Amino acid sequence: MDKTIDELYKNPDDKNIQNNFQFILFGGTGDLAHNKIIPAFYNLAAKDSLPDKFTIVATGRRYDNKNAYLDALYNSLINKKEKIDDKVWRFLTEHIDYFQLSFKDENDFKNLRKYLKNKSKKEKVANRIFYLATAPKFFAEIAKKIEKFNLLEIKLENNESRLVIEKPFGHDFKSAKKLNDTLSSIFSEKNIFRIDHYLGKEMIQNIMVIRLSNPIFRALWNKDHIDNIQIYLNESEGVKDRGKYYDDAGVIKDMFQNHILQVLSLIAMEEPENLSAEEISNKKVEVFKELADNDLSNIDNHIVRGQYISNIVDGEKIKSYREEKEIDSQSETATFMALKLFLNNERWRDVPIYLKSGKRLNKKEAGIAIEFKDSFHPAYLDQNKLDNNLLLIKIQPEEGISLRFNTRKPASNNKIVPVEMEFCQSCQQFFNSPENYEVLIYDMISGDKTLFTSWKEVSYSWKFIDKIQEKYAEENINLHKYPALSKGPKAADQLLENDGRKWLDNNK
Ligand SMILES: NC(=O)c1ccc[n+]([C@@H]2O[C@H](COP(=O)([O-])OP(=O)(O)OC[C@H]3O[C@@H](n4cnc5c(N)ncnc54)[C@H](OP(=O)(O)O)[C@@H]3O)[C@@H](O)[C@H]2O)c1
Repeated sequence: MDKTIDELYKNPDDKNIQNNFQFILFGGTGDLAHNKIIPAFYNLAAKDSLPDKFTIVATGRRYDNKNAYLDALYNSLINKKEKIDDKVWRFLTEHIDYFQLSFKDENDFKNLRKYLKNKSKKEKVANRIFYLATAPKFFAEIAKKIEKFNLLEIKLENNESRLVIEKPFGHDFKSAKKLNDTLSSIFSEKNIFRIDHYLGKEMIQNIMVIRLSNPIFRALWNKDHIDNIQIYLNESEGVKDRGKYYDDAGVIKDMFQNHILQVLSLIAMEEPENLSAEEISNKKVEVFKELADNDLSNIDNHIVRGQYISNIVDGEKIKSYREEKEIDSQSETATFMALKLFLNNERWRDVPIYLKSGKRLNKKEAGIAIEFKDSFHPAYLDQNKLDNNLLLIKIQPEEGISLRFNTRKPASNNKIVPVEMEFCQSCQQFFNSPENYEVLIYDMISGDKTLFTSWKEVSYSWKFIDKIQEKYAEENINLHKYPALSKGPKAADQLLENDGRKWLDNNK
């Protein structure tokens, strides 16, 4: 049997986690730290993927001592895991320090410097990672304080201090550029790790492998053979506790600017010459640039915006978007968007690309559908209507691939029926995909930037999103109402029906 993913992660040939890194976690007491970052460290420790020496320095205001912080972390872990391995937990707690700090208090930064300096004197620290798990309004302020209080000058064996930034990176091109100008005056682009946690998902990492290591797909990956591409990211949940953020961002900034466009860039990019992070990013940037240059003159026919209204499901009232916590009762924010676009290049000219994402849809499902053209042998055309070949890359909740092809119906008079060949990755015990933050944390410590977004990717994607926003403000594009836990606005189906097509996800 081949190595399991866990074993591969334990001993990756091409990665190098150096002994004794310092991981300074700003926002160490927040939701993300409790639910994603520390659990990811726990999982890495359980797989024996961490070195003997390292320190996580978690900062926050709400606890005044390490034990209180560790108790809170332990309680969060219990809620997430069926069982906590005491040995792993002990190992982890030996490597966690808590440092009470307010972003506003300069003395706290002076003390943090003293503390890091002392620690670095005792042990030879290889790399230092500053992780900003905080509200975006603090990103620039913390980076400036890291510089002002000389945290970058504390000696390192490798002279590498990295900055990790959570999403969202700005709220439009202008604000993203302003933030980037500040960060890049302090850290080099090589050392700025912008998170799009979607890129850590196993099937997203698999896109390039599926495309490039299978000649049957590689040879057909263009306009001559592909009829249309669909990317869908359907959520069944509402906005939960993130109302304030969401009402400002909406689906366009929450899902399209980052996750959906990132997936599209991996599907549509030209083949990279090698697998270096820089080369892959350059190829992705070509797609983002193409999008930013996209002619949106037809956008009102190509875009459907929606917002969910209340509904009764199984006798229970499901709230409308406007009734959710912290949402303006007159909000015009779109919680759903479907978009049709084209890439005007040799590979994809005239191939429609349909993108869709929404909240409170009836099924949680993310995937990519690649539908092939109907270039059947003429001898089979006068039979019944044949189904096109279809490659489905399933991202979540199930991870896997399915391929639809036509076959002869047994014992029939040459009747043709479509069948599906399924590979269910998440069903296979030995595959046990690591969680995305596990992969991302491993990579940021190893210095591998492949799964992080470059400034060029971010900047062109914002330019594209800004253009759409301007357009729909100018043209006052309709906000279609759809019942909560339904399949979304009817207009989104119409968008494809007008082209003689239909959505290929399971949101029925
Ligand atoms: N939560 C998620 O699942 C999730 C998912 C994707 C992206 N993100 C992004 O991750 C970032 C963090 O989100 P979150 O949900 O973890 O936020 P959160 O729960 O509100 O946590 C914010 C953190 O910042 C600290 N903080 C706030 N003001 C501070 C100040 N003046 N001085 C020092 N510390 C301060 C808080 O510490 P104290 O309260 O202890 O002071 C807390 O640790 C955001 O950019 C968010 O967009 C979050």
